[in-house]
Amino acid sequence: MCGIFGYIGNKEAVPFLMEGLKKLEYRGYDSAGVATLDKGKVFVSKRAGKIADLEELLRRKPIKGHIGIGHTRWATHGKPSDANSHPHEDCTGKIVVVHNGIIENYLELRRDLAQKGHKFTSVTDTEVIAHLIEENYAGNLLEAVAVTLNQVQGSYALAVVSEHEPDKIIIARHGSPLIVGFGENECYLSSDIPAMLKYTAEIIKLDNGEVAVLAKDELKVFDLQGKAVAKESELISWDPESAEKGGYAHFMLKEIHEQPSAIRKTIEGRIEAENHKIHFDELNLTDDEIRKINRVVFTACGTSWHAALVGEYLFEQYARIPAEVEYAAEFRYRQPIIDQNTLVIAITQSGETADTLGAVWEAKARDAKVISICNVVGSSIARESHGVVYTNAGPEIGVASTKAFTTQLTVIYLLAILFGKRKGVVSDSEATKLINDLIELPGKIEEALYQEEAVQHVAERFYRATNALYLGRGKGFPIALEGALKLKEVSYIHAEGYPAAEMKHGPIALIDHNMPVVVLALSGRRYEKILGNIEEVKARGGKVIAVACEGNTDITEKADEIIYIPLTSEALSPILAVIPLQLLAYYIAVKRGCHVDQPRNLAKSVTVE
Ligand code: AGP
Repeated sequence: MCGIFGYIGNKEAVPFLMEGLKKLEYRGYDSAGVATLDKGKVFVSKRAGKIADLEELLRRKPIKGHIGIGHTRWATHGKPSDANSHPHEDCTGKIVVVHNGIIENYLELRRDLAQKGHKFTSVTDTEVIAHLIEENYAGNLLEAVAVTLNQVQGSYALAVVSEHEPDKIIIARHGSPLIVGFGENECYLSSDIPAMLKYTAEIIKLDNGEVAVLAKDELKVFDLQGKAVAKESELISWDPESAEKGGYAHFMLKEIHEQPSAIRKTIEGRIEAENHKIHFDELNLTDDEIRKINRVVFTACGTSWHAALVGEYLFEQYARIPAEVEYAAEFRYRQPIIDQNTLVIAITQSGETADTLGAVWEAKARDAKVISICNVVGSSIARESHGVVYTNAGPEIGVASTKAFTTQLTVIYLLAILFGKRKGVVSDSEATKLINDLIELPGKIEEALYQEEAVQHVAERFYRATNALYLGRGKGFPIALEGALKLKEVSYIHAEGYPAAEMKHGPIALIDHNMPVVVLALSGRRYEKILGNIEEVKARGGKVIAVACEGNTDITEKADEIIYIPLTSEALSPILAVIPLQLLAYYIAVKRGCHVDQPRNLAKSVTVE
């Protein structure tokens, strides 16, 4: 996910661009750049690093102009670097573009353009757009962009400026948001509303398949066949702070709801179900190296450690490789017995967790292969690992990790299948089935989110609790741990996750009518056993909140509250099961008046040991 901002009017564009990019920095912050049109000439300033680094560059070498476009990057194709930063130019430097999205057929387009003599200066998919527009330009910039967009496949929010027509910005949208704001004889362009809210509340949202000409006092919109499209502006009533959250009360709730799109972004460009193919550009492990791996050690902290626990099950189930899970802080100090045939997988949202970074160093010092599953491009742990798979979930602002967790599970699921294929224990047909199951998952998460009202009802009933127990079996156990952690960290209720079968070995003493017990009653070969555990809780007066799969109606007479999730494969059920638990923790915390996005004592990234 990246951020785009544009300005066209009678004032200097750069101050608007920089202000806008700072507000969009949450969408990506591994590199940034701006381009302006001044007296008919294009000027570009861009670099890897934070927006503050771009500001420094502009202080040393300012650029002028009353028309400009800017971009803050969340790398998808090509590591963060000056060359891969946006804006990108065509061969002549007279056409400049910024883009948010993924062009899936960029490699074949790039090959065709190179054969026609185009020279590329980056490895990004976006640069292909600039050269395509150059190839298609025949005196009308809007037409050249429309022809180009009929040739690309994938998602885009696009802004184009050119010396050929230096009084306008051409914009277009398909899949990635793009909004136009209207001021006094000036217009703004942004990936989201908050970034322009200080200038105007009058906006128009471009819809998919629309391309437009933005002048300082008007917007003309067309479809890709050139037919004019009438658009109605709307007035935004949000206050600036709530606008940052896209209308949600908290970032945590916004990010819970972002999970379907986040998982789509995680798998975008990485799977081909029909060819049972999975590929991760930066995994940096040869097939032969994968085949030599005889042991996997996951290492992480907190929620990422729970993802690792699910990973242990998935790797043993599909890759048939012995796997184990270590807390990073324990792993780094216990002199682990690992070697060059051990694969250490570090899981981390921030890529900056000190203990996980220490564990990576320890693993490398003992010659293990190290890959990381990370959500921040170019972060310390990503850079220290031999290979990395980015979750591409977009920045996660809420301290309580939600979309990072489910996208971590998505990556682990695909890695386990990939390793299973390389080791010859997952057939092509099985891989196709497993990949198709995953493709259906975002839609099922959307269905699970429809239970939000039912979860709010459960939160109303139990938010006064002082303790809670979460029980699960198999892959449901790590989800029980994760549900308990969510509740602890945002509502401050003491909650404990436990293997359901272990309850009678002690924790059952805790059960009474004050103790809500959340049970992951997921379909599968352990389901009957879980029903037995529910009976044990009920027999001692406990209140049972069950997360169950649609169709399992036999649980209705056993549990006090039931939150249903759609049926999916046993391997993907943990990802669906965590959704109601995230919502439950959120709504209980809200009822208790807690600071949901910044809970007491916590930090989003624990960069100290
Ligand atoms: C999760 O909700 C917590 N914020 C915390 O446990 C977090 O998962 C942990 O600190 C690890 O962070 P990382 O994934 O960025 O390494």
